[in-house]
Order: sequence, then C-alpha cells, then structure tokens
Amino acid sequence: MATTCVLGAQWGDEGKARVVDLLADTADIVVRYQGGGNAGHTVVFEGQTYRLHLIPSGILRPHATCVVAHGVVVDCGTLLGEVDELRKRGVEVGANLVISDRAHVVMPWHKRLDVKREEMAGSRAHGTTGRGIGPCYADKVSYRGIRVGDLYDEEWFAERLRMNIEEKNRLLVDAYGGEPLEFEPIRDEYMRYAELIKPFVGDAVTLLLDAVDAGKNILFEGAQGVLLDVDLGSYPYVTGSNSCALGVPSGTGVPPRSLDRVIGVAKVYMTRVGTGPFPTEDEGEGGQRLRDAGHEYGTTTGRPRRCGWFDAVAMRYSVRSNGIDEVVLVKLDVLRGFPTIKVCTAYESPDGQRLDRMPATASELNRVVPVYEELPGFEEDVTGARVPADLPQNALDLLAFIEQQMGAPISQVSVGPSREQIVRMNGAS
Ligand code: IMP
Repeated sequence: MATTCVLGAQWGDEGKARVVDLLADTADIVVRYQGGGNAGHTVVFEGQTYRLHLIPSGILRPHATCVVAHGVVVDCGTLLGEVDELRKRGVEVGANLVISDRAHVVMPWHKRLDVKREEMAGSRAHGTTGRGIGPCYADKVSYRGIRVGDLYDEEWFAERLRMNIEEKNRLLVDAYGGEPLEFEPIRDEYMRYAELIKPFVGDAVTLLLDAVDAGKNILFEGAQGVLLDVDLGSYPYVTGSNSCALGVPSGTGVPPRSLDRVIGVAKVYMTRVGTGPFPTEDEGEGGQRLRDAGHEYGTTTGRPRRCGWFDAVAMRYSVRSNGIDEVVLVKLDVLRGFPTIKVCTAYESPDGQRLDRMPATASELNRVVPVYEELPGFEEDVTGARVPADLPQNALDLLAFIEQQMGAPISQVSVGPSREQIVRMNGAS
C-alpha cells in the first residue's frame, strides 16, 4: 500500500470512513490531516457502529498507530469524549494515538464566533457545523492561534490566552453583543485538558517522516470533500482547510512526492449540507427519494442533506486537481427503482455557452444549468451483488458512462452499508 490518501471527491459525506476501514487492515499508520470536529466518520466494525469526529477511523485496529496531524484543529473536549467512549466500548486508546504538538487548538471563542457570525448573517448564513472551524483556522493564519504544544508552557499559554481574550471580547461583546470571556475559567479548563491529553501528544512530523523513510504503510484519511476545499471548492461556501490531496503535505509535514496513491470516494449521486451552489440539486420528488433511500442526514449535525444528481463536471475537476488514481463509487443500491438516472455532463451558462470546467466563483456556479444525459434505471435489488456480473446491465452501463465522464477508473462500487457489500471493478483487489 505504501502511502495512500482517501479523500472525498464531492461535498463531503461520501462514506470515506468505510473505505479507510477496509484499507486499515494493512495500514501501519492512519492519519487525519485536516478539518476537525466538523467531520463525522461512521465506521461499522465487528457489528458495532462507531461515530468519530477527530480520531482516525483506524483506531479500531489494534495494530495501527493513529495520528491527528497538525493540519487538524483539535477540540480537546471532543477528543477526550471520543477517547472515553472508545475505551468504554473496549477499544484500546493509548500509545496507538498521537496528537501533533503543532496542531491548533479550538478555543471557546472559536465556537462562539462561529455561532454568532452565523446568527448575524441570518438568511445569508453559511451553514457551518458550529464547531469553531473557520475561526480557528483564521486565527492560525493571522498568528493568533494556540497550538497543542503551547499548552505545556504555562506562562506562554497564559500570555497567548490573555492577548486573545482581550481581542476576542471586543468582537464578542462590542460587535456581537455577547457575554465576555473570562481568563481564569478558560485557563483552568485548558490546563486540565493539557494534563488529560498529555499521554497522546507528540512530534507527529518526525514520526511520519521516519515512517515514510522506513517504507511503512501510511493511510491519510481526508475529511469533508474536494468541493469544500478552501482553495479549490465553491468559495466562500467551503470549509477552512485544504480537504484536497494538497492538504496531506501541508497538514502532516510529509514531502509532496511521498504520496503514492490517491483514492477518491464519491456517491453515485450528489449531496451537500449547508449553503452554497449545487447545480444538480433536485429539490423535487427525485431529491426527496434520494434522501430517504440514502438516509441522507448529517452525522455531526443531524441536518437533512440536500440531494441531487451525479455531477461529472465537478468529478472531472476533483479527479484532475487531486490526481485521483481510482474512484470508489458508493450507494449504487440507492438508485434502484428510478425509471431514469441523470448524469450531468456539462453546464450551460446563462448566455447559452456550454461549460465543461468548474467555474471559479460561487455566483457563476449558482447560475449554470446542468446539461443531463438520462440513462435507463434498474429495478433489480443489487444489495447482494459481489462481482460485476451480479449487477444488472443498466447499472453496468451507468458505471461505464460515469467512469468515462469523470476520467478515472472505478475500483469499487458499494451496494449497501456493510463491509462485504462491495463489488470490485476493473480487476481491483
Ligand atoms: P465548517 O467546516 O463547520 O466551518 O462548515 C463549512 C461548510 O462545510 C458548511 O457548508 C458545512 O456544512 C460543510 N461541512 C463541514 N464539515 C462537513 C462534513 O464533514 N461533511 C459535509 N459538509 C461539511
């Protein structure tokens, strides 16, 4: 396996955790490289369902070391809650979990600012998860951040805390009319967190560089999806990090050339949570049917997801900009019973021009009209399929069409939620 990155090729919620779980069998190290508690990764392991936000899905494998790298913003409360929950359920969490000392810490003002900004925006709200992600990354790049390692120098931490509280109170109180933050309770709370997370904190950069040199199998687990990437996504309706493959070197410290394989995970339709352009959204019966059949409700927030049709323009963009070597296409079973299945092959701009590339601005993307190819649907139950020959011809034709449109081979297709409901395509092992 060497170094493999599994990322979401759409707007998140593609079911990456299951792919990571399958690959984690042979991984020495599983790494989260960006995002934070906004992610919701559901893994079903030995009949039990685990919902993880920060800890890599590989934690369920006793042989794997799990790393929360510096590209991740760490919410200590969420992290410790996950550790407790896992331990209660008999999962070992100890030396197998390493939190980077360079990772930034989500502080109470990040969450409050996130929520206040959303409230102030009213109907123009971004639809964030309210986990303080954007404000924490904003502090990181404006030199205000507090990193995990800073928690272990009490004086330095207190100085950073004071400076932040002074600044953030102006915003929270004067601009947003909220309650002021108080120094002492926050200092005490974070000193307590520091003690509790200490056994896990380490130099993740050196650990990963040594692992690369030693030729270990490293699995990088992406959160969110390429179309939510702060640079490549539908800005400003994005998340605060590089959720594309670029996030791996910047978020972990491994050199860019050390990434051997990129796997993109995509649904055979599209979903999105929160605000922002979604050219193939179906707000009618079709979208509702996809939502019901696909159980499209958020893991982190429980919000109903917006649903629509497979967008090959967006997928081509994800494939090309991330060097995706293979696509794992999920939820084929959800399409059963649709008389026809739409695939968007191009966009049409308001002046009638045909576009087969992703526009840069959200306003442009909002205005395009999808050009669809309608393919015949299938009535057969595909949940028992395990090899391509088990799939109906119409499903195979749909997969071949999607593959040709997005410009990358499909290595696996999922036909149901459990581990074994996978059809390996193109001779993939
Ligand atoms: P934030 O990451 O909480 O700041 O939210 C920014 C945008 O990303 C919002 O539209 C969220 O709904 C979306 N988002 C964040 N995390 C996820 C995720 O794990 N899945 C899907 N959408 C997400």
